[in-house]
Amino acid sequence: MINFDPHSKTFQDDPYPTFRRMRDEAPVMDVPDLQLWAVSRFDDVQAVLRAPDGFSSRRSLDPNDASSNVPMIVIMDRPRHGELRSLLSRAFTPRRVDELAGRIREIAIKLIDQFIEAGSCDLWEDFSAPLPTIVIAELLGIPSADRAMFKEKSTALAKSVGPGMDLDPAKLASTSNPVMELAAYLASIFDEKRKKETDDLMGALLAAELDGKRLDQAELVGFAVLLLIAGNETTTNLISNAAVLLDQHPDQRSYLFEDPIRIEVAVEEFLRFESPVQGLERVVTEEVTLGGQTLKRGDKVFLMLGAANRDERMIVDPDEFDVRRTPNPHLAFGWGGHFCLGANLARMEARIAFEEIAKRLPGYQLSGPTERLYSGFFRGLLSVPIEFDPKAPS
Ligand code: HEM
Repeated sequence: MINFDPHSKTFQDDPYPTFRRMRDEAPVMDVPDLQLWAVSRFDDVQAVLRAPDGFSSRRSLDPNDASSNVPMIVIMDRPRHGELRSLLSRAFTPRRVDELAGRIREIAIKLIDQFIEAGSCDLWEDFSAPLPTIVIAELLGIPSADRAMFKEKSTALAKSVGPGMDLDPAKLASTSNPVMELAAYLASIFDEKRKKETDDLMGALLAAELDGKRLDQAELVGFAVLLLIAGNETTTNLISNAAVLLDQHPDQRSYLFEDPIRIEVAVEEFLRFESPVQGLERVVTEEVTLGGQTLKRGDKVFLMLGAANRDERMIVDPDEFDVRRTPNPHLAFGWGGHFCLGANLARMEARIAFEEIAKRLPGYQLSGPTERLYSGFFRGLLSVPIEFDPKAPS
């Protein structure tokens, strides 16, 4: 009997032994307490992500489902999902993202300028949290002065979500729900932008048309809320997790920092080894057999990306952290129709972050215990105290 409690702190401190047992002994495991099937092998997770008609992204098959209060594409199905996604994907083509590189580097340099003289900082507080948050705020066109507020809301959300913990309708409608708070804030910014055209993503969404029709306010707000949360929480965790991994593997850090061109390949290993998004949920739309189990219409599945990315059936020595690993198949950004729209941006932010760390804080060391972000869906940290030589040669 495998004890799988994705909400327990003990589990989250080191989920990997449990992941291995689940993959070996119960790859599609019935978890009655959470009323879901936990899917832990790479192939099974990928098979579900490849079959959007058989596995819905909606929170439930009930057409009156309360999650439509804030209609985000990540919890929509075809055809509306595809229509709305195509609008947004224009903002995230590799070319558009490349154009942001210079600005991302400027932000990274400025953040490091603010703490370098001190010889110590909290890398989370001073660098990995603000960097993606400022980037997404600028992209959307919201005042980055408000970033502490939306970082706080997105962290509150990350702490409150997890498998089998659907936001119930009452909670979702409550004004103290972080999603609703962000939605109200973003709705007021859209109202402002309606008065005057702006050259940013929110302005572009306001002007966008599908079949001659503008998006309604709920859809606009759904986009902005999703981007704000997806755009900062995950990338912050990617950078923080990687900084700790490199501190634990100084030989690999030296190899990377000797020639920062190697960072691009390493980012894939950061994503695989400590996946910032640990799991996704889907609802079964028609009876299906998966991993020898019969799943019925309406059943929920929890796709364990963190476990799939350590599956020895797909990855050689998966518990070895290896920044040289190529090829590096992983599901950290999902797969198929809902594949992460911000993947190019996230990869580039992480690459630039570590290029600047390599230049200016190459010998950094952890100076105290880190603090874990306890979340059923996200793997990350809330504090990464480090010290370094401010005069290190670049
Ligand atoms: C390390 C950073 C990131 C990770 C690990 C990550 C992970 C993911 C995953 C696993 C999904 C798939 C969800 C599903 O299938 O249900 C997803 C979707 C999405 N992500 Fe990311 N993400 C990251 C960064 C970003 C950034 C920076 C943005 C935007 C600025 C972003 C925007 C989105 C959007 C809009 C979707 C929904 C796509 C759809 O439903 O069609 N993500 N992300």
